Order: sequence, then C-alpha cells, then structure tokens
Amino acid sequence: MHVPTPLLVLAILSPIALITIPTSQLDRVIHHRLCRTTGPVCNGHADLCNRSYGNITFAGSHDSFTFTNDTLQLARDQEVDIPTQLDFGIRLLQAQSHLWLGALHFCHTSNNLDGGKVADYLTIVANFLDNNPNDVLTLLFTNPEGVSFPDVWAPLFESAGLVKYAYVPPRNPMPQSAWPTLGEMIANGERLVVFIDYVGKDGRTVDYLLPEFGMIWETPYDMTDPSLPCSIDRIRGADVLSASNQMYLINHEIDIIVSGALVSDPVDAPTTNSVTSIIAHANRCLHFANGRNPNFILFDFINLGEIFKAVDQLNRL
Ligand SMILES: *[C@@H]1O[C@H](CO)[C@@H](O)[C@H](O)[C@H]1NC(C)=O
Ligand SMILES: *[C@@H]1O[C@H](CO)[C@@H](O)[C@H](O)[C@H]1NC(C)=O
Ligand SMILES: *[C@@H]1O[C@H](CO)[C@@H](O)[C@H](O)[C@H]1NC(C)=O
Repeated sequence: MHVPTPLLVLAILSPIALITIPTSQLDRVIHHRLCRTTGPVCNGHADLCNRSYGNITFAGSHDSFTFTNDTLQLARDQEVDIPTQLDFGIRLLQAQSHLWLGALHFCHTSNNLDGGKVADYLTIVANFLDNNPNDVLTLLFTNPEGVSFPDVWAPLFESAGLVKYAYVPPRNPMPQSAWPTLGEMIANGERLVVFIDYVGKDGRTVDYLLPEFGMIWETPYDMTDPSLPCSIDRIRGADVLSASNQMYLINHEIDIIVSGALVSDPVDAPTTNSVTSIIAHANRCLHFANGRNPNFILFDFINLGEIFKAVDQLNRL
C-alpha cells in the first residue's frame, strides 16, 4: 500500500513521540503546515499555481448569458447570472455574438434570446478580474457573422479595461504543452485568455484575440445521444498542430427536441452533470489526446449536478 508522506509523518508524531520532540523541531513542523495553507493560491487551489494552463481542466458555462428561471424560455441554458457562475467556480465563459442595430450583442440566435450588449458583459468580466487577482479566466466567444476583430471586438475590450489583462501568446498557435503556469500568468497580470472561434471576414487579427481552432479542438455540440460519444468535431486542419498537440474542449450538454428545436434539458441536468457522467465522457476522449484529460468542459445549468466535484477530480485536487 502506498502511504502518503504526510501520513507517515503523522504516524511518527504520535502523542508519545511528540513529548520527546525538541521544541525547535516541532516549530518547524507547525511552520511547514502553516506555509502550505497560506501560500499562493491560483484559481482557488495552491496546487494549480505550478501547473501549466494547458494541463488544467476548466469548468465552462455554455451560453453563459442565457440565464433565466423562466421555464417557458426554451433558449435558456443557464439559471444563474454571470457573477454567480463565477462564484460557483466557472472559469470559462462561452457566448455567441450577433450584431444588432449597430451594437454587438450576445444572442442565442435559434430562439432569439437577447443576452444584452457585449460591452456590458465585458464590464462584468473586468469587475471579476479586478476583484480576483489570483484567478485566470478564459472567454470563448463565437463570431458567426465574421465581425471584424480590430474594428468591432477590440474597441469593446479596450473600453471595458480588459486589454491589460489579456494574455498574448509568444507564438500562435500555442501547443498544449507550451502554455505558462497559472502562477506565471498571475504574476505577469495576464489573467484573461480570449478565444474567438473564427476571425472576421476582413481577415485582420488582434494579438490577444486568439482564433480558437488550431489551438483547441471540440467534440460535437447539440448532442441528443445521452451516451455522449467522443469524436473530434470542429478543428482547424492538421496544417497547424495535430489534434494531440492541441488543447481540447468537450461539450457536455444533452439536448432534447421540443417542437422541432434542439433545447437543453434542466430536468436531466442533475444526471448529465453528475460526476459519473462527466468522468465517463472525459474518459471516452482520452485516446485522442495521449491520455490527457479535457482542458475545458462546457455545461448547461452549471448550478445543477456536481460539475465542480468532477472537475476537481480531473485536476487531481
Ligand atoms: C514546480 O514544478 C517544477 C517542474 O514540474 C518543479 O521542478 C518545481 O519544484 C515545482 N515548484 C513548486 C514550488 O512546487
Ligand atoms: C495533466 O497532466 C497529467 C499528467 O500527465 C495528466 O494525467 C492529466 O490528464 C493532464 N490534464 C490536462 C487537462 O491536460
Ligand atoms: C433562479 O433561481 C435560483 C434559485 O432560487 C436563484 O439562485 C437564481 O439567482 C435565480 N436566477 C435568476 C437569473 O434570477
């Protein structure tokens, strides 16, 4: 049996042994314990500080802006607002954009759920980063209308005061193994990673708006098969990095069909978001990634089920 070192130490420090330990030595033991509990913490865990961003599983909120308790609103995928999602431990926020009356909004197009202006959403993100200096957050936005990075997206990040937090990788695409540790990102103040699925139609880039595919591949979304089989769905061609050298995201959401439309299912969410279901899905993907766990998992109804327990388990916390 493998006995962890701290347990061995405890066994040696039985009450009788304690009496005979010189005070100086006892101090050292106590000091060591204090240091371990009061040292740097990254995304809520000391053990994550020394881990590469590319070697961590982050819990993500699918269609993060669609929060409402109105059960008649079939386009909703969440029940709690963005600050509450972040309080729960969500560290990737996903959202779909749509230009509307000259302003970029987040919108669930299929059912027309307007999630408000991107500018307002980014202010909430900035507020979180201002108030949580030891946290790294990832944004994953979709750009289905091919809106310009420098003309439309970048000014919104500038107005929200987010550019100073945005991580600019030394090369693009960055292989999974090349990412800095959370501790390094926090020390450098670059605590926001922004992925956008597709570059704008004008083809112009911005250094901190990272095209998703090429660095991340995804499993299929809008799945109705409750067994959630794993396959590589969206990915940029092998011209860049092979799948096993990219990070990857699993879409852990099961839809049902209501009047011909695909909608998320809050009734099943506690089962979908159970540890068993999440770990099993992750395990089905391992062979695409040299045995590595998913980097990001997107969930519907992040307040239901046990997603943070599952993610901690994947991170061996
Ligand atoms: C961080 O990780 C590196 C390499 O994995 C290791 O050499 C180093 O001792 C670790 N530092 C801490 C503080 O755990
Ligand atoms: C991180 O690395 C460990 C050890 O190689 C691996 O077991 C784990 O699946 C990795 N996780 C991610 C998200 O890469
Ligand atoms: C929905 O209801 C839950 C439980 O009462 C509550 O915590 C949450 O804040 C509500 N969501 C919204 C968007 O009002």
